[in-house]
Amino acid sequence: MALQSPNITVMVAAARKASRKLKRDFGELENLQVSKKGPADFVTTADLTAEKKIYEELSHARPGYGFLMEEKGVVEGTDPSHRWIIDPLDGTTNFMHAIPHFAISIALERQGTIVAGVIYNPITDEMYTAERGGGAYLNDKRMRVSARRDLTQSVIGTGLPFFGMPNHERELTELKAVMAKTAGVRRFGAASLDLAYVAAGRFDGFWEHELKPWDIAAGVLLVKEAGGFVTDHAGREEVLKTGDVLATNEGLHQPLRQILKDAG
Ligand code: IPD
Ligand code: CA
Ligand code: CA
Repeated sequence: MALQSPNITVMVAAARKASRKLKRDFGELENLQVSKKGPADFVTTADLTAEKKIYEELSHARPGYGFLMEEKGVVEGTDPSHRWIIDPLDGTTNFMHAIPHFAISIALERQGTIVAGVIYNPITDEMYTAERGGGAYLNDKRMRVSARRDLTQSVIGTGLPFFGMPNHERELTELKAVMAKTAGVRRFGAASLDLAYVAAGRFDGFWEHELKPWDIAAGVLLVKEAGGFVTDHAGREEVLKTGDVLATNEGLHQPLRQILKDAG
Protein backbone atom coordinates (compact mmCIF):
# COMPACT_ATOMS: atom_id res chain seq x y z
CA MET A 1 0.00 0.00 0.00
CA ALA A 2 1.37 3.41 -0.97
CA LEU A 3 2.60 5.86 1.67
CA GLN A 4 1.49 3.77 4.65
CA SER A 5 2.19 5.68 7.87
CA PRO A 6 2.83 4.00 11.24
CA ASN A 7 -0.72 4.81 12.40
CA ILE A 8 -2.33 3.37 9.28
CA THR A 9 -0.10 0.29 9.57
CA VAL A 10 -1.34 -0.30 13.13
CA MET A 11 -4.98 0.26 12.20
CA VAL A 12 -4.81 -1.98 9.13
CA ALA A 13 -3.18 -4.75 11.18
CA ALA A 14 -5.89 -4.51 13.88
CA ALA A 15 -8.67 -4.61 11.27
CA ARG A 16 -7.13 -7.59 9.50
CA LYS A 17 -6.68 -9.54 12.74
CA ALA A 18 -10.25 -8.92 13.89
CA SER A 19 -11.58 -9.76 10.44
CA ARG A 20 -10.28 -13.34 10.51
CA LYS A 21 -12.78 -14.47 13.15
CA LEU A 22 -15.55 -12.38 11.61
CA LYS A 23 -14.97 -14.07 8.29
CA ARG A 24 -14.96 -17.54 9.87
CA ASP A 25 -18.18 -16.72 11.73
CA PHE A 26 -19.72 -15.40 8.53
CA GLY A 27 -18.84 -18.63 6.76
CA GLU A 28 -20.49 -20.63 9.56
CA LEU A 29 -23.46 -18.33 9.45
CA GLU A 30 -23.99 -18.91 5.76
CA ASN A 31 -24.28 -22.60 6.63
CA LEU A 32 -26.47 -22.00 9.67
CA GLN A 33 -28.69 -19.72 7.64
CA VAL A 34 -29.87 -22.65 5.60
CA SER A 35 -29.91 -25.15 8.46
CA LYS A 36 -32.64 -25.62 11.06
CA LYS A 37 -30.61 -24.16 13.88
CA GLY A 38 -30.60 -20.59 12.58
CA PRO A 39 -28.06 -17.86 13.14
CA ALA A 40 -29.27 -16.10 16.32
CA ASP A 41 -26.74 -17.27 18.95
CA PHE A 42 -23.87 -16.78 16.66
CA VAL A 43 -24.18 -13.14 15.84
CA THR A 44 -24.63 -11.76 19.31
CA THR A 45 -20.97 -12.50 19.99
CA ALA A 46 -19.45 -11.54 16.62
CA ASP A 47 -19.48 -7.77 17.25
CA LEU A 48 -18.08 -8.22 20.76
CA THR A 49 -15.30 -10.59 19.75
CA ALA A 50 -14.17 -8.34 16.89
CA GLU A 51 -14.22 -5.28 19.13
CA LYS A 52 -12.19 -7.03 21.84
CA LYS A 53 -9.55 -8.02 19.31
CA ILE A 54 -9.27 -4.49 17.90
CA TYR A 55 -9.13 -3.05 21.42
CA GLU A 56 -6.32 -5.43 22.40
CA GLU A 57 -4.31 -4.74 19.27
CA LEU A 58 -4.61 -0.95 19.44
CA SER A 59 -4.00 -0.79 23.23
CA HIS A 60 -0.85 -2.79 22.72
CA ALA A 61 0.37 -0.69 19.78
CA ARG A 62 -0.50 2.71 21.30
CA PRO A 63 -0.64 2.44 25.10
CA GLY A 64 -2.52 5.34 26.70
CA TYR A 65 -4.82 6.26 23.82
CA GLY A 66 -8.51 6.44 24.73
CA PHE A 67 -11.38 4.61 23.02
CA LEU A 68 -14.94 5.23 21.88
CA MET A 69 -16.37 1.87 20.85
CA GLU A 70 -19.87 0.92 19.80
CA GLU A 71 -20.16 -2.08 22.12
CA LYS A 72 -17.98 -1.25 25.12
CA GLY A 73 -18.46 2.52 25.01
CA VAL A 74 -15.83 4.91 26.34
CA VAL A 75 -12.49 3.82 27.76
CA GLU A 76 -10.49 6.81 28.98
CA GLY A 77 -6.78 6.82 28.15
CA THR A 78 -3.89 8.43 29.97
CA ASP A 79 -3.18 10.42 26.78
CA PRO A 80 -6.10 12.88 26.58
CA SER A 81 -5.28 14.03 23.05
CA HIS A 82 -5.76 10.70 21.26
CA ARG A 83 -8.83 8.52 20.90
CA TRP A 84 -9.79 5.56 18.71
CA ILE A 85 -13.37 5.49 17.40
CA ILE A 86 -14.42 1.97 16.49
CA ASP A 87 -17.32 0.13 14.93
CA PRO A 88 -16.19 -3.52 14.99
CA LEU A 89 -18.98 -4.69 12.71
CA ASP A 90 -20.86 -2.11 10.68
CA GLY A 91 -23.72 -3.78 8.86
CA THR A 92 -24.71 -6.23 11.59
CA THR A 93 -28.12 -6.83 10.04
CA ASN A 94 -26.45 -7.81 6.77
CA PHE A 95 -24.07 -10.09 8.68
CA MET A 96 -26.98 -11.75 10.50
CA HIS A 97 -28.74 -12.41 7.22
CA ALA A 98 -25.63 -13.80 5.54
CA ILE A 99 -25.48 -10.81 3.20
CA PRO A 100 -21.80 -10.25 2.38
CA HIS A 101 -21.71 -6.49 2.89
CA PHE A 102 -20.27 -5.33 6.22
CA ALA A 103 -17.08 -3.73 7.50
CA ILE A 104 -14.79 -2.88 10.37
CA SER A 105 -14.37 0.87 10.84
CA ILE A 106 -11.53 2.43 12.86
CA ALA A 107 -10.74 6.13 13.16
CA LEU A 108 -8.04 7.97 15.08
CA GLU A 109 -8.96 11.30 16.62
CA ARG A 110 -6.26 13.76 17.71
CA GLN A 111 -7.37 16.75 19.78
CA GLY A 112 -10.89 16.48 18.45
CA THR A 113 -9.92 16.10 14.77
CA ILE A 114 -10.05 12.82 12.85
CA VAL A 115 -6.56 12.29 11.47
CA ALA A 116 -6.69 8.70 10.19
CA GLY A 117 -9.38 6.26 9.09
CA VAL A 118 -9.54 2.63 8.03
CA ILE A 119 -12.58 0.74 6.74
CA TYR A 120 -12.19 -2.92 5.85
CA ASN A 121 -14.64 -5.20 4.08
CA PRO A 122 -13.32 -8.71 4.86
CA ILE A 123 -15.47 -10.40 2.23
CA THR A 124 -14.22 -8.39 -0.74
CA ASP A 125 -10.82 -7.82 0.94
CA GLU A 126 -11.15 -4.11 0.23
CA MET A 127 -9.08 -1.96 2.60
CA TYR A 128 -9.96 1.73 2.52
CA THR A 129 -7.49 4.04 4.25
CA ALA A 130 -7.03 7.78 4.65
CA GLU A 131 -4.83 10.14 6.57
CA ARG A 132 -5.50 13.83 7.02
CA GLY A 133 -3.62 15.64 4.28
CA GLY A 134 -2.36 12.37 2.77
CA GLY A 135 -5.18 11.35 0.44
CA ALA A 136 -7.44 8.29 0.45
CA TYR A 137 -6.67 4.81 -0.85
CA LEU A 138 -8.50 1.64 -1.79
CA ASN A 139 -5.89 -1.05 -1.22
CA ASP A 140 -2.90 0.59 -2.90
CA LYS A 141 -4.82 2.79 -5.32
CA ARG A 142 -5.53 6.45 -4.75
CA MET A 143 -9.26 7.20 -4.58
CA ARG A 144 -11.12 10.17 -6.03
CA VAL A 145 -14.78 11.03 -5.63
CA SER A 146 -16.81 10.87 -8.83
CA ALA A 147 -16.68 13.74 -11.30
CA ARG A 148 -20.40 13.60 -12.18
CA ARG A 149 -22.19 16.92 -12.15
CA ASP A 150 -25.55 15.77 -13.43
CA LEU A 151 -27.91 14.40 -10.80
CA THR A 152 -29.91 12.50 -13.40
CA GLN A 153 -26.79 10.38 -14.01
CA SER A 154 -25.89 10.03 -10.35
CA VAL A 155 -26.30 7.07 -8.01
CA ILE A 156 -26.94 8.09 -4.42
CA GLY A 157 -26.65 5.92 -1.32
CA THR A 158 -28.77 6.32 1.77
CA GLY A 159 -29.79 4.63 5.01
CA LEU A 160 -33.36 4.17 6.13
CA PRO A 161 -34.75 3.79 9.64
CA PHE A 162 -36.20 0.46 10.68
CA PHE A 163 -38.27 -1.07 13.47
CA GLY A 164 -37.93 0.95 16.67
CA MET A 165 -36.39 4.01 15.01
CA PRO A 166 -38.15 7.36 14.50
CA ASN A 167 -38.75 9.56 11.44
CA HIS A 168 -39.96 6.99 8.91
CA GLU A 169 -42.16 9.59 7.20
CA ARG A 170 -39.33 12.11 6.78
CA GLU A 171 -37.13 9.46 5.17
CA LEU A 172 -39.85 8.46 2.76
CA THR A 173 -40.38 12.06 1.73
CA GLU A 174 -36.67 12.55 1.16
CA LEU A 175 -36.36 9.25 -0.68
CA LYS A 176 -39.23 10.15 -2.99
CA ALA A 177 -37.65 13.51 -3.83
CA VAL A 178 -34.19 12.07 -4.53
CA MET A 179 -35.59 9.10 -6.51
CA ALA A 180 -37.34 11.48 -8.90
CA LYS A 181 -34.18 13.42 -9.73
CA THR A 182 -31.37 10.85 -9.88
CA ALA A 183 -30.30 7.71 -11.74
CA GLY A 184 -31.07 5.64 -8.64
CA VAL A 185 -30.92 5.33 -4.86
CA ARG A 186 -29.18 2.45 -3.06
CA ARG A 187 -29.63 1.23 0.54
CA PHE A 188 -26.87 -1.29 1.21
CA GLY A 189 -26.92 -1.34 5.04
CA ALA A 190 -23.44 -0.32 6.21
CA ALA A 191 -22.90 3.43 6.58
CA SER A 192 -19.11 3.12 6.75
CA LEU A 193 -19.06 1.39 3.36
CA ASP A 194 -21.57 3.90 1.95
CA LEU A 195 -19.05 6.63 2.70
CA ALA A 196 -16.17 4.53 1.39
CA TYR A 197 -18.18 4.08 -1.83
CA VAL A 198 -18.53 7.87 -2.17
CA ALA A 199 -14.76 8.20 -1.67
CA ALA A 200 -14.17 5.53 -4.33
CA GLY A 201 -16.48 7.31 -6.81
CA ARG A 202 -18.95 4.38 -6.85
CA PHE A 203 -21.69 6.42 -5.23
CA ASP A 204 -21.95 10.03 -6.36
CA GLY A 205 -23.44 10.94 -3.02
CA PHE A 206 -24.83 9.60 0.26
CA TRP A 207 -27.16 10.92 2.89
CA GLU A 208 -28.45 9.56 6.18
CA HIS A 209 -29.70 10.88 9.50
CA GLU A 210 -28.92 10.04 13.11
CA LEU A 211 -25.73 8.09 12.60
CA LYS A 212 -23.28 7.50 15.43
CA PRO A 213 -19.64 8.67 15.49
CA TRP A 214 -18.37 5.10 15.02
CA ASP A 215 -20.50 4.69 11.86
CA ILE A 216 -18.97 7.72 10.14
CA ALA A 217 -15.69 8.89 11.73
CA ALA A 218 -13.41 7.00 9.34
CA GLY A 219 -15.72 7.39 6.32
CA VAL A 220 -16.00 11.16 6.59
CA LEU A 221 -12.21 11.46 6.44
CA LEU A 222 -12.09 9.08 3.45
CA VAL A 223 -14.55 11.24 1.49
CA LYS A 224 -12.76 14.49 2.32
CA GLU A 225 -9.36 13.05 1.45
CA ALA A 226 -10.78 11.76 -1.84
CA GLY A 227 -11.76 15.32 -2.71
CA GLY A 228 -15.39 15.20 -1.57
CA PHE A 229 -17.59 17.39 0.59
CA VAL A 230 -19.21 16.29 3.86
CA THR A 231 -21.59 18.38 5.93
CA ASP A 232 -24.76 17.82 7.87
CA HIS A 233 -28.06 18.65 6.21
CA ALA A 234 -27.87 22.27 7.32
CA GLY A 235 -24.45 22.61 5.68
CA ARG A 236 -22.47 22.51 8.95
CA GLU A 237 -19.21 20.61 9.23
CA GLU A 238 -19.74 19.02 12.67
CA VAL A 239 -21.27 15.82 11.33
CA LEU A 240 -19.90 13.66 14.12
CA LYS A 241 -21.96 15.69 16.59
CA THR A 242 -25.24 15.85 14.68
CA GLY A 243 -24.98 12.42 13.02
CA ASP A 244 -26.74 13.80 9.94
CA VAL A 245 -24.55 13.26 6.92
CA LEU A 246 -24.54 14.52 3.35
CA ALA A 247 -21.44 13.41 1.44
CA THR A 248 -20.88 14.08 -2.27
CA ASN A 249 -18.43 15.46 -4.77
CA GLU A 250 -18.11 19.23 -4.95
CA GLY A 251 -20.60 19.78 -7.76
CA LEU A 252 -23.49 17.72 -6.36
CA HIS A 253 -23.42 18.93 -2.78
CA GLN A 254 -25.53 22.04 -3.19
CA PRO A 255 -28.17 20.54 -5.55
CA LEU A 256 -28.63 17.42 -3.41
CA ARG A 257 -28.84 19.47 -0.25
CA GLN A 258 -31.49 21.65 -1.88
CA ILE A 259 -33.58 18.61 -2.87
CA LEU A 260 -33.44 17.29 0.69
CA LYS A 261 -34.23 20.72 2.09
CA ASP A 262 -37.23 21.20 -0.20
CA ALA A 263 -38.44 17.70 0.73
CA GLY A 264 -38.19 18.45 4.45
C1 IPD B 1 -25.87 0.50 11.10
C2 IPD B 1 -25.48 0.58 9.65
C3 IPD B 1 -26.65 1.02 8.79
C4 IPD B 1 -27.24 2.34 9.28
C5 IPD B 1 -27.61 2.23 10.76
C6 IPD B 1 -26.40 1.83 11.58
P1 IPD B 1 -24.62 -1.33 12.68
O1 IPD B 1 -24.76 0.14 11.93
O2 IPD B 1 -24.40 1.46 9.44
O3 IPD B 1 -26.28 1.20 7.45
O4 IPD B 1 -28.37 2.64 8.51
O5 IPD B 1 -28.10 3.46 11.21
O6 IPD B 1 -26.75 1.73 12.95
O7 IPD B 1 -25.70 -1.39 13.71
O8 IPD B 1 -24.79 -2.35 11.64
O9 IPD B 1 -23.26 -1.24 13.25
CA1 CA C 1 -22.60 0.93 12.66
CA1 CA D 1 -21.81 -2.10 14.66
